Amino acid sequence: MPLERLEAERFRGLAPCSLDFDPRYNLIVGPNASGKTSLLEALFFLGRARSFRTRRLKALVRHGEATFQLVGAVRVTAGAVTLGIRAGDDGAEIHVGGQRVRSATELANHFPAQIIDPEIHRLLEDGPAQRRKFIDWGVFHVEHGFLTEWQRYFRALRQRNAALRAQSRGAALDAWDEELVASGTRLAAMRSRYLEQLTPFLREAGQALLDLDVTLAHRAGWAADQSLSEALKASADRDRRTAVTHAGPHRADVVVRVDGELARERVSRGQQKLLASALTLAQLRLQDSLAPGRTALLLDDPAAELDGERLERLVGLVRALPVQLFVTSLRGDLPGLGTPGRRFHVERGVLAPA
Ligand SMILES: Nc1ncnc2c1ncn2[C@@H]1O[C@H](COP(=O)(O)OP(=O)(O)OP(=O)(O)O)[C@@H](O)[C@H]1O
Ligand SMILES: [Mg+2]
Repeated sequence: MPLERLEAERFRGLAPCSLDFDPRYNLIVGPNASGKTSLLEALFFLGRARSFRTRRLKALVRHGEATFQLVGAVRVTAGAVTLGIRAGDDGAEIHVGGQRVRSATELANHFPAQIIDPEIHRLLEDGPAQRRKFIDWGVFHVEHGFLTEWQRYFRALRQRNAALRAQSRGAALDAWDEELVASGTRLAAMRSRYLEQLTPFLREAGQALLDLDVTLAHRAGWAADQSLSEALKASADRDRRTAVTHAGPHRADVVVRVDGELARERVSRGQQKLLASALTLAQLRLQDSLAPGRTALLLDDPAAELDGERLERLVGLVRALPVQLFVTSLRGDLPGLGTPGRRFHVERGVLAPA
């Protein structure tokens, strides 16, 4: 749902600000090191309670301060909901609609946001954890039971690993296996279903951005010709020896292919960025087809890294997405994205309507 306002205090190098946004297209222009990415990071944090640049909360707090604070107002049918976050070394405190909430998923429900930034190629280059996180964001928004199942699975996994470390045998381990198999199998099925739904949107985006046929294959986290129960039995000795569980959705991955070949081995860095962008745009398209008008896209300086033609293609796809846009740029308007509903200028951390 569109974000109407953001107030940020002590966040990175940003001066305290209170900004009113357009429900459709917001453009943020400023020189290098002025605070453009920091603003997108604050917006992302409001929807995820984490950054896309760092895992250290402290790095987000203005030097010399102990905490930062973000307050956002999200439009809903009957008015607005306030999202509030105060975070620092001791963790994050989250409020939604004036009530303290324990889980960041409450934020994701109100302000689902995706980012396309200059580091997006890492989605393909880095290990499977990044891709699991990416897919799970999508599954969470599409499958209602996903979060409960996810929590159940990881609780059972933690307990099983603890039993392995304590060198428990027989019954102690079996006690967790039943739960692990039941929730793990359901989790994998949800991910599979989601990837199937995503595929047509991805193929379309892949053709539009790269002229390539992009496909996905789900690796559930255990051998495809076994059930999870069989896979756990098969790896039981190894699990005991190493005191970790080797089979299950916590080991899942998504393999990306272009024209039938492994993307990682086939495409250039620039193409990887486009491929990862295609994945993100496909996710937003799918999301919007199921629940229209809820999502935001943060686009960090797309002109910086793409050649003219590729940029035009990306911008064409982005423009067609019915999402709320926050776009940063070094040099002013992005031809092709139309006229921004609101423009902001940022200089040395000071953000102001332009
Ligand atoms: N915790 C912090 N406290 C104070 N300043 C910070 C903090 N973290 C980062 N900065 C500073 O904020 C400035 C703005 O960074 P940001 O990445 O937002 O710039 P940008 O406008 O996106 O630049 P570019 O165009 O180069 O990508 C940088 O100079 C950085 O050193
Ligand atoms: Mg930047």
